[in-house]
Amino acid sequence: MSGDKPRILITSAIPYINGIKHLGNLVGSQLPADLYARYMRGRGHEVLFLCATDEHGTPAELAAAKAGKPVAEYCAEMWAVQDELGRGFGLSFDHFGRSSSSQNKALTQHFADRLDQAGLIREVSQTQMYSKADGRFLPDRYIEGTCPNCGFEDARGDQCDNCTKQLDPVDLINPRSTISGSTDLEMRETKHLFLRQSAMKDQLDAWIDSKTDWPVLTTSIAKKWLHDGDGLQDRGITRDLDWGVPVAKGGAPWPGMEGKVFYVWFDAPIEYIACAQEWVDAGKGADWARWWRTDKGAQDVRYVQFMGKDNVPFHTLSFPSTILGSGEPWKLVDYIKSFNYLNYDGGQFSTSRGRGVFMDQALEILPADYWRWWLLSNAPESSDAEFTWEQFQAGVNKDLADVLGNFVSRITKFCRSKFGEAVPEGGALTEAGAALIAELETRVRAYESHMDAMDVRKSAAELRAIWVAGNEFLQSAAPWSSFKTDPETAAADTRLALNLIPFYAVLSAPFIPNTSQRMLEAMGAENTVWPDGVSEALHALPAGHAFTVPEVLFAKITDDERDAWAERFAGVRD
Ligand code: MF3
Ligand code: ZN
Repeated sequence: MSGDKPRILITSAIPYINGIKHLGNLVGSQLPADLYARYMRGRGHEVLFLCATDEHGTPAELAAAKAGKPVAEYCAEMWAVQDELGRGFGLSFDHFGRSSSSQNKALTQHFADRLDQAGLIREVSQTQMYSKADGRFLPDRYIEGTCPNCGFEDARGDQCDNCTKQLDPVDLINPRSTISGSTDLEMRETKHLFLRQSAMKDQLDAWIDSKTDWPVLTTSIAKKWLHDGDGLQDRGITRDLDWGVPVAKGGAPWPGMEGKVFYVWFDAPIEYIACAQEWVDAGKGADWARWWRTDKGAQDVRYVQFMGKDNVPFHTLSFPSTILGSGEPWKLVDYIKSFNYLNYDGGQFSTSRGRGVFMDQALEILPADYWRWWLLSNAPESSDAEFTWEQFQAGVNKDLADVLGNFVSRITKFCRSKFGEAVPEGGALTEAGAALIAELETRVRAYESHMDAMDVRKSAAELRAIWVAGNEFLQSAAPWSSFKTDPETAAADTRLALNLIPFYAVLSAPFIPNTSQRMLEAMGAENTVWPDGVSEALHALPAGHAFTVPEVLFAKITDDERDAWAERFAGVRD
């Protein structure tokens, strides 16, 4: 089926396990990745689309403690919640994995071994806060005390939430452990592993230079880290936590590293690979290596990653260091699509403060396609973007209800009343019909080139123009008037307009998959092949083909709803 089209591997940055993601998180990686995956499948490519939860690290441990649950149990529950919400939004992952999987543990330890054998890991002695009561070293986030700058009593080891000053735990006055509250803390010597990224600087630099088609947002961030100041720094890849991938060497505990785990940013991207193994082990795929090993077929794969801009350094430098440093033939990313931030109504979305709309709440109030359309058509590509309820209402009502929904409803109802619920025969293609086909031919090719380039907003704008063309055709052909004098022409134009519905369904499916499905069902359309030839596609439903008038595709958002939602989501999450 896929012929000689390249296979496409797509990963979305894997969301942190702690808490339900907000719409800003969604539009920064998972949603545009899904758009691209659905489009590429639609174009007949073989696609592997992977995502997972990012489960390790302090935030997961702290969130579990807050929920009063063992961390493994908390993560299992939150994975199920995120999995369910992803389905609710129509995210078409081939597998939604977990970075805490046994596959990722084994692979992370494998990479550490390889990097160690390549001489790319060094042990560094540091002094670090040790809590006798807790019997462990404390990461920065596990220490609180009085801020030396403003006197705030609950300043965290890494930052004061009151005056925002960046802190070092040793700066705190009267430091205490957040685990036990103990103040019996002392500085002790401890060792950590560092990845010698500095030794890989030239290799990374040359690799980035070879990516001439990458967006400037991506390469400029990478270049800054490579060249600013003293250049690329070695990176600590171990932490003093219980929850994570245990630091091991050759399958046995790493001497001197007892009780430590790999840093979450070391194991998280490795999950992209482990996720493909999970996919196979879950019985959903036969072979992961042909996607990930260039000695096993992955040289023919095009690999695209989606992420927010804050993730770019990890994907342009850290993860490639792991891959290249291993000396093994792993697939490197071919293209990185990164996003700016989506803000919420004059401020930021905030998980910790519960500000904005979260995925579960969004689905409670409206179907997924409303959100998908608005978020994607307003994706924060060239700059940060903002969600306001006014703009959301306007986008949904204008584009979805007035343009697409109205078109479908108008033509199906008109046909039912004049010709019955079957495609009418009518005369030959009218002049207006031929002009529409010519316009759509150009527009569809433009839409494809924007989608190929992952220009999300431009794609949405072109798709909207494709819908508008149908409305304008209907408006000018006006079969309800020509019916009185020239029913043959009215029937021919109606036949063409009805054919636009499955055509729109196929083109729109990457953006609004559920509605697209309803449109196809209403039209009894079986052929969901991408319209390589517009004219041919618009003759797909023959005269006599039965259809039904669908229920209203999109309900308009009323001013009352808009105001009520604006108020409900203004404050802190309930
Ligand atoms: N969890 C991180 C975030 O939400 C993204 C991790 S992406 C990966 O910012 F590369 F580490 F997998
Ligand atoms: Zn302070």
